[in-house]
Amino acid sequence: MKKIAIFTDDPGWHGRQLQQAFLRRGYQASYVSLTQCQLVLASGFIPVLIPGFDGCLPEAVFVRGVPGGSLEEVIFYLDILHALKMLGVPVYNDAQAIERSVDKGMTSFLLQRSGIPTPETWQVRDREVALEILEQQLSLGHLMMTKPVFGSQGEGIRRIEKMADLLWLTSSRGIYYLQRFVHCSGDGFSDIRVFVIKGWVVAAMKRRGRSWLNNVAQGATCEAVVPDPKLEELALAAVQAIGMDYAGVDVIQDKNGDYLVIEVNSIPAWKGLQSVCELNIAQLLVDNLLERLPLTNNEVADVAL
Ligand SMILES: Nc1ncnc2c1ncn2[C@@H]1O[C@H](COP(=O)(O)OP(=O)(O)O)[C@@H](O)[C@H]1O
Ligand SMILES: [Mg+2]
Repeated sequence: MKKIAIFTDDPGWHGRQLQQAFLRRGYQASYVSLTQCQLVLASGFIPVLIPGFDGCLPEAVFVRGVPGGSLEEVIFYLDILHALKMLGVPVYNDAQAIERSVDKGMTSFLLQRSGIPTPETWQVRDREVALEILEQQLSLGHLMMTKPVFGSQGEGIRRIEKMADLLWLTSSRGIYYLQRFVHCSGDGFSDIRVFVIKGWVVAAMKRRGRSWLNNVAQGATCEAVVPDPKLEELALAAVQAIGMDYAGVDVIQDKNGDYLVIEVNSIPAWKGLQSVCELNIAQLLVDNLLERLPLTNNEVADVAL
């Protein structure tokens, strides 16, 4: 059977969903940790060694997780993904998309550069400068967010509400990512997760948080919504701005009804969305990835018939 690698250190529900979806299409997908891969630049070897693949390359790879670690470790994992793509293996999402979206500063820059509405954001190294910006924004009446640059699932995000909060200001490994807080429309707290696969909005849901953090991982509830054309257009433009095959786009609707893109996730979870959506999201992802594979001789003959 043709083989696929799913890069993950924690397969869980998503890993199983993907494995079943690949199996339905006749592919055997195995879980592999990027920590176990090697670059072997010696004669007679394929340069990327993936455990369980007998020195051969997989038909394609699905990236469900890139482990954290030192800068060297993370760059090594990304090198493996870059190298696989250069060797002709479809990598979903590819290393460039992951690099851009994991880094909140670069995501904000690319969104802003493409003219996509996104909250005002500052990223600085100097603590005094960060404090000045926050003081100024608070004095203008804005609440502020500080976020870990490589954070996810709402972890480590703080809301700065008053000058006294500045006493506890901490950096994200030396860097300050500061963003204006957007007061959302409607009652309570909510944002919208829009799931996009290759230029198509597959599904969307409203996430209602217990407080201003609307991540499912932080206990937000999910409710399916039908995105209006403006939201669809915005989500598609955001995914294009970062250059992704598929993505989970986080959008907030402000008190005026305008949409702002908060972030674009290149390794989004979809368990919450699947619970309120009829379509099989794992199958749509897998089918979109498999479309990139060259047809085998038999398949070419079938198409020709
Ligand atoms: N500028 C903001 N204004 C209001 N709420 C925000 C803002 N930024 C983030 N949030 C809330 O925090 C959640 C997590 O922020 P996000 O930037 O998506 O980080 P993570 O990568 O941890 O999900 C968002 O889904 C949203 O509910
Ligand atoms: Mg998010």
